[in-house]
Amino acid sequence: MQLKIVGGDLAKAKTPCLILGVYDKHKRSAPAAAVDEASDGAITQLLRKGDLDGGKGLLLAYDLPGIAAERVLLLGLGKRKECNRGTLTKALGTALSRLGEHRVTKALLALPDDLDDYAGVRAAALKAAEGAYRYEQTKPPKADAPPLLERFELWVAPAQHAGAERAVAHAEAIGAGVALARELGNLPGNICTPTYLAERATALADQLGALSTEVLDEDAMAELGMGALLSVSRGSRQPAKLIKMTYQGAAADAKPIVLVGKGLTFDAGGISIKPAGEMDEMKYDMAGGASVFGAMVAAVRMGLPINLIGVVAASENLPGGAANKPGDVVTSLSGQTIEILNTDAEGRLILCDALTYVERFEPAVVLDMATLTGACIIALGKHPSGLFTSDDTLAKEITAAGEAADDRVWRLPLWDDYQQQLDTNFADMANIGGREAGAVTAACFLSRFTKAYPWAHLDIAGTAWVKGKEKGATGRPVPLLSELLIRRSGVAAAD
Ligand code: BES
Ligand code: MN
Ligand code: ZN
Repeated sequence: MQLKIVGGDLAKAKTPCLILGVYDKHKRSAPAAAVDEASDGAITQLLRKGDLDGGKGLLLAYDLPGIAAERVLLLGLGKRKECNRGTLTKALGTALSRLGEHRVTKALLALPDDLDDYAGVRAAALKAAEGAYRYEQTKPPKADAPPLLERFELWVAPAQHAGAERAVAHAEAIGAGVALARELGNLPGNICTPTYLAERATALADQLGALSTEVLDEDAMAELGMGALLSVSRGSRQPAKLIKMTYQGAAADAKPIVLVGKGLTFDAGGISIKPAGEMDEMKYDMAGGASVFGAMVAAVRMGLPINLIGVVAASENLPGGAANKPGDVVTSLSGQTIEILNTDAEGRLILCDALTYVERFEPAVVLDMATLTGACIIALGKHPSGLFTSDDTLAKEITAAGEAADDRVWRLPLWDDYQQQLDTNFADMANIGGREAGAVTAACFLSRFTKAYPWAHLDIAGTAWVKGKEKGATGRPVPLLSELLIRRSGVAAAD
């Protein structure tokens, strides 16, 4: 999909659909007022009919006098004082699906005057980009399916042009990252295996010159001593892969930001097998890894002046003759031993070795993303991802990036008080900590492998995909990660 910033006289803009914001009580945004005047009050007349009196909803009108656009879509944005970026993107989402029903593939949004800054333009453009994604690989669309948006133009006031151009470039990059994360997530486990992910990473490096990929196979991991990670993949016929993607956008001696993702391409639980209901959703257990792919693509496409390393620990977790058994003890790359009391707590087993592995890159910071615990969904539901870190400054930074990117997190405690739940008589630690605070004890487990650098963990179990009729991967937390990288890169958001 093409995104473009435009200026000039809105009344003369040739487009299949001009989208204008209006508020409650027949108030018009500045661009809507300008178009209203050019059409001799046609918009005022439409508003008087009362369809948008609730302040919300859509009104589609054709052939307004003096207006070059084929259609005008009035977008109800509620009360002017309460209207913000969130209101706009929500309303825009509805508007874009309505346009799909009308088979309109090109549109021009005139951003309301107070939402045409960098953040507003980026959010609107990203919404349009996200609307143009559809999963098709194993289900091609029917001929009568609504067509996808092909071109989305955004009109901003002349003073905002420079910021808007940058915002659109960033939205394109983030949109590509989100789309990749969604696609990898949506692919079934029999296609998206660890080997498939490794091949995709290699293909990305061919495609994006600034990216390089290295894949460690099981022999290489055994050589290093990744006993925890390899114990998980032993139960599966699919060999594990440790995928490393590198982007050098800054001086060679600048410490890298390191992203680590859980890439469990299918989690049946292993010998501690999961119940059958909804088990298909465990194809999404690689969503943390997918978000690493997405963030890498976004950073490269934005050309951020940072050094970034993405590591995806990819494996399946199945029951099998060589699978982990409850009570087994394994030795991690760190040398610490782990008693596996539940083979379904496998994410932490593969992540702990990846987290030890990345020490060698002397990271400025390490963020890991994982669909780690059902307990996180119980604690927080599906709206925020869980954030765990003992570094208050880093917690603030990540929280703020999440707010700005409309991809929020909520911090949960990582206090030492919880660590004792991992005690066992048979190893340095157990891989589960009992029924209480399951998301916290999982994070506590990871914390034992991250002493060498500043670190935060995002539990995305509740946010990585949605259930129901619209079942599918969300691409979260690629928007948050992209925002964080933009901020860390020192590239001012707006010019
Ligand atoms: N991938 C799951 C966590 C999960 C479950 C994410 C449901 C999203 C939806 C993880 O590997 C897992 O099975 N965790 C266990 C841990 C338990 C055995 C301590 C869980 O949450 O039940
Ligand atoms: Mn599991
Ligand atoms: Zn899992």
